[in-house]
Amino acid sequence: MFESLRAVPADPILNLSVLYRQDTNPNKVDLGVGVYKDEKGHTAIMEAVSRAQERILSEENTKAYVGIAGSKQFCDLLAQVTLGANHNVLAEKRVAVAQTPGGSGALRVLAEFINVAKPGATVWVGNPTWANHIPIMQSAGLKIKQFPYYDRASKVVDFDGMLATLTADTQAGDVVLLHGCCHNPSGADLTLEQWQTTAEVVKAKGLLPFVDIAYQGLGEGMDEDAAGLRLMANMVPEMVIASSCSKNFGLYRERTGAAMIISSTPEHAILTQSQMNGVIRANYSMPPSHGALAAETILADPKLKQMWRDELKTMRKRIKHLRSQLVDAIKAEGIEQDFSFIERQKGMFSFLGISAEQVDQLVNKHSVYLVSSSRINLAGLNQHNIAYVAKSIAAVL
Ligand code: LMR
Repeated sequence: MFESLRAVPADPILNLSVLYRQDTNPNKVDLGVGVYKDEKGHTAIMEAVSRAQERILSEENTKAYVGIAGSKQFCDLLAQVTLGANHNVLAEKRVAVAQTPGGSGALRVLAEFINVAKPGATVWVGNPTWANHIPIMQSAGLKIKQFPYYDRASKVVDFDGMLATLTADTQAGDVVLLHGCCHNPSGADLTLEQWQTTAEVVKAKGLLPFVDIAYQGLGEGMDEDAAGLRLMANMVPEMVIASSCSKNFGLYRERTGAAMIISSTPEHAILTQSQMNGVIRANYSMPPSHGALAAETILADPKLKQMWRDELKTMRKRIKHLRSQLVDAIKAEGIEQDFSFIERQKGMFSFLGISAEQVDQLVNKHSVYLVSSSRINLAGLNQHNIAYVAKSIAAVL
């Protein structure tokens, strides 16, 4: 049975960590996988998470199963974090929520849920989008089409192109996958006005918005980063959201996230919850507990919550500072090409906007690891390596 199988190509993002670890160059720099690193290049456990874990260790008294949709308190708190505690859709009890194994788990659960509601539905994803969006949607049975998103020449969102495609080429019942904030891989986000216009098109055309928010808090702030999706949720009858705690709680390996389905009525929300639970039960039965318990412990405790928000703010500010510093360091190399767009983009990622061959040289000659699309993780920079990275970029231009 297995003899005819061929190997799947290595993951374009995760494999970078493997190559980086194998590299013996003492100057090597990892700007690959989207993981936050501190000044020492270390992905530390957030202090609020450590405190929450200590409490869990002393107070947890069972390892019995959590429910199919995970912890009710985690789901309620994360829905409030994502949508805002006072959002209409929460007050109107129109939201079904499930704790999932990471944001990817939420994406897969929601994709399968959509495939139950409308088998073989078409999902429109931006060009470009996160490399794993397409396999996740396709594995659930959905079809993929693309709308233009990032204009590589002007380094901003190609909003006219996006709108033209969504207006002219979509059919009622199609799904539109949007990034809540900190667009991965481009760092180019929709403005609030653009969210408003997109929501109007989505509504007029009867599309289902599917928002992936994996970097909330790493752009402008927890509320600011979710403003677009909150606006969308106010304007459309139905919507789905995949939310991740990997980056903003630093819970990567604990696989913590949530899938949310907004329905037009509370009765439909009960129905969608049952369908989503059916998808989960037939898939991994129920989520792992630990990461969600840590996030829930933080969100339910005002002191821990404040500590977490402060830590997140420090991370956000550091990334912004690194963006400016990289632009300055490249300028200091005497490069004429304008890289100032990096300062205007948001979150962990930007494209350098160089060719695949130039990326290849950065990786293989200079041991600066980045995705072949030229996406860099700004959080991999630090005071020790930033000049080396700028010099290496200058050398390949
Ligand atoms: C990334 O884009 O680097 C992260 O979301 C990690 C991943 O799983 O790809």
